[in-house]
Amino acid sequence: MKKTIRDIDVSGKKVLVRCDFNVPQDENGNITDTRRIVGALPTIKYLLESNAKVILCSHLGRPKGEVKKEFSLEPVRKELEKELGKEVKLANDIIGESAKTLTQDMKDGEVVLLENVRFDKREEANDREFSKELASLAEIYVNDAFGTAHRAHSSTAGVAEFLPAVSGFLIEKEIKFLGEALNNPERPFVSIIGGKKVSDKISVINNLLEKVDTLIIGGGMAYTFFKSKGMNIGNSICEEDKLDLAKDIMKKAEEKNVKLLLPIDIHVAKEYAPDAESKVVPADKIEEGWEGMDIGPETIKMYKEVLANARTIMWNGPLGVFEFDKFATGTNEIAEFLGNQEAIVIIGGGDSAAAIEKAGYADKMTHISTGGGASLEYLEGRALPGIECLLDK
Ligand code: 3PG
Repeated sequence: MKKTIRDIDVSGKKVLVRCDFNVPQDENGNITDTRRIVGALPTIKYLLESNAKVILCSHLGRPKGEVKKEFSLEPVRKELEKELGKEVKLANDIIGESAKTLTQDMKDGEVVLLENVRFDKREEANDREFSKELASLAEIYVNDAFGTAHRAHSSTAGVAEFLPAVSGFLIEKEIKFLGEALNNPERPFVSIIGGKKVSDKISVINNLLEKVDTLIIGGGMAYTFFKSKGMNIGNSICEEDKLDLAKDIMKKAEEKNVKLLLPIDIHVAKEYAPDAESKVVPADKIEEGWEGMDIGPETIKMYKEVLANARTIMWNGPLGVFEFDKFATGTNEIAEFLGNQEAIVIIGGGDSAAAIEKAGYADKMTHISTGGGASLEYLEGRALPGIECLLDK
């Protein structure tokens, strides 16, 4: 267990808070999904109510050590002002004159946002001097950037060497939900794993096979499993070099007594396009010239039956090409179904979170992780440097 901001006296102190404000924007710089900003608010508000002086920092995108206007945190500053209902000043550097001046004589309850930490290449190099300078702006370090906790960078881990380091409420919440589901789930525990490639999810699947009662497979990776069973998959996406891996997973599931479910019917299309000609066929009847785009109605029915009895459900990865409405049925129907279940439903971030958001069921889930890569690494059972570096309780 790591210490949190509740375990430390922050009153009157300068607190450096690392958030993950890496939010998507449209071509005009408007933020299109504010979940990560909203997710950081409980920590920021608690610090303000506790009379701390709040110094926020984050990365945005991958500017690779260069100052680029399109990666500025200015849109985030605006959104924060709106959410907090108070002034948020933006420094135009990270550890330079502007940051030092703005943070020097802060009053209790003030908020300063530093500019994108990745404008300096020493951030991603976890440069010790850079970490030290960043730390020198404050007296306490709070990491609340769950989405970046898998990176050992200066602002996510390096600074912890120089300041008392604790977690914020978002990291605490993510670990509570993801950790409890993984380590102490109410059973039956069912996991749905989707996405294009088996290779992206192999470590997650291996870890989950030690923990779940049932593993449901969907999305593009299903076709690699089909092919490994000798089935025809037409033009469906397939990792030819992962056929043995798929076989190993099925064997391991059997050894562990984990029920592994694959789709029984498929919505196939003539081409990979939003309005492609399409039809539903049994999973073992995919013809040449057709490719799998979504799970079919029989599969949806079968998966719902299994999910209806689950007490804990963990979902990572869409079940079809959800970006095209015509092939989002499987993902949407399962999302809607889960939204109406009593079970604990955890959505491991990234594409699955985007799919649930798009389907309009985000509010109905127990927890949607704000991490993409970070939640995957957590589900793989790996230690995250941004959490490891914090003080133990
Ligand atoms: C993410 O969006 O997954 C995090 O913000 C981390 O970003 P990165 O992959 O550029 O380190």
